Amino acid sequence: MAAGGLLLPGAASAQQADGERLFRQRCEACHSLEPGQNRAGPHLSGVVGRTAGSVEGARYSAALRESDIVWDGGTLNTFLAAPRQMVPGTSTTVGVPNAAQRAAIVGYLEGAVAQ
Ligand code: HEC
Repeated sequence: MAAGGLLLPGAASAQQADGERLFRQRCEACHSLEPGQNRAGPHLSGVVGRTAGSVEGARYSAALRESDIVWDGGTLNTFLAAPRQMVPGTSTTVGVPNAAQRAAIVGYLEGAVAQ
């Protein structure tokens, strides 16, 4: 289950732990990592590699559904820096302005959801 972790050297796992903590604090109220569990936002299991707005049963804005974004490290980073700048009309305003914190969260999502 922690297969992704085996590829990470020590420094990166510290960053991943930080990413997990930040995710719990900033994201988990609205986003589960369990497939099928949508809260105010869609679940984020397998979000890396997923097309934006594609989770069945999640409540999305038309703007995100029609954005044609595919989530990877780069697009997640841009979105989280300023959601409404990347996707005008998105219903989420929650971003992570701090670049180091953003990198930790994106790294966590990349590692945590590869199943
Ligand atoms: C207050 C609730 C809330 C919080 C907190 C929140 N989000 Fe969201 N998030 C949403 C909503 C609502 C959407 C759907 C936006 C839309 O449809 O325009 C969304 C969409 C997303 C998407 C796109 C998912 C998809 O399936 O296309 C990602 C990625 C995302 N959020 C990441 C995060 C991360 C990472 C955090 C923590 C830093 C976070 N969100 C915090 C409510 C939230």
